[in-house]
Amino acid sequence: MRLLPAPSSQSLRLLFLFIFVMGVAPYPALTAGCPDRCVCDDQLVVQCAGQELTLFPNDLPLATRQLIISNNHIGELPALQLNYLSDLVYLDVSNNTLMEISESTFGNLRKLAYLDLSFNTLTQLEDRTFGPLSSLVMLRLTDNLGLNEIHPDAFSENIALQVLDVSRNNLTTLNISSLIALPSLRSLGLSGNPWRCDCETEDLCLWVQIEGFKCTKEMCQGPPEVSGQRLAEVGMQLRADCHQGLGYWDYLFFIAIGFVIFSWHAGVSAGCEQLEENQIKKGRRESREDTLQGAME
Ligand SMILES: *[C@@H]1O[C@H](CO)[C@@H](O)[C@H](O)[C@H]1NC(C)=O
Ligand SMILES: *[C@@H]1O[C@H](CO)[C@@H](O)[C@H](O)[C@H]1NC(C)=O
Ligand SMILES: *[C@@H]1O[C@H](CO)[C@@H](O)[C@H](O)[C@H]1NC(C)=O
Repeated sequence: MRLLPAPSSQSLRLLFLFIFVMGVAPYPALTAGCPDRCVCDDQLVVQCAGQELTLFPNDLPLATRQLIISNNHIGELPALQLNYLSDLVYLDVSNNTLMEISESTFGNLRKLAYLDLSFNTLTQLEDRTFGPLSSLVMLRLTDNLGLNEIHPDAFSENIALQVLDVSRNNLTTLNISSLIALPSLRSLGLSGNPWRCDCETEDLCLWVQIEGFKCTKEMCQGPPEVSGQRLAEVGMQLRADCHQGLGYWDYLFFIAIGFVIFSWHAGVSAGCEQLEENQIKKGRRESREDTLQGAME
């Protein structure tokens, strides 16, 4: 067997140039640098958590897939800079000082599967806030202590949504008319809000009661006669109180629902918490999987 001749320095240089061009050209990430105080890796993950940032990072690689800017003091998500990142799949902005999200904020993030806005200072969510996020699977919106208004159609276009968590906000009511229509929704976190269980929340209470698999520990905080009870316990009572003078269809409804609740209680009520935890874990894993899948495309 003959040994290959040792490569000349000229051909080595050519080889390096070749590798450099092939390796770099398809990844704008590597040419666009990495923002100050952030770590960027070749999986297109940009990690800037806990860096005392007060502004959204500049000079993000355009091909960024995952952006983690949690635990900072960022007060605003600039629509223009954010929407350049059209390949973004995973965005964690938890524990910042966001006060507002508008319709234009997420204008172009069609691949985004995971969004975490927990531990911010949002006070309301308007119509179509998340409209363009057609791939969104998991939305975490917990611990915004002043958040007391969510527009009925805020999530109506997020048809891929599986896990929505609005726990520990300042919500007294939630209009579920658009949530009911979401085809993939499997888990809804509601606990830790000062729910007011009156006729305005009747639909929510009934829904929580019927959809056993979405059960959480949410409690009514008013009015006094029901405060401390679980939403799921007062649904039927509200249905009766809020519709004085029942008709034929109401009785039919009660019989149907009674049967559903009977079968549900028989099976599920003991394992409620565990169930929810699993749902959330599963959702997290799936959004991770989507993220990975997206990253491999
Ligand atoms: C929020 O971020 C700060 C640092 O900015 C950190 O000290 C604190 O523990 C974080 N809180 C949570 C709930 O993660
Ligand atoms: C929660 O909402 C109520 C009005 O419904 C308001 O009075 C209260 O200040 C809010 N709490 C926070 C922490 O913003
Ligand atoms: C919920 O929102 C829908 C659509 O905006 C509206 O038609 C309906 O009356 C609302 N329900 C309640 C109980 O406010």
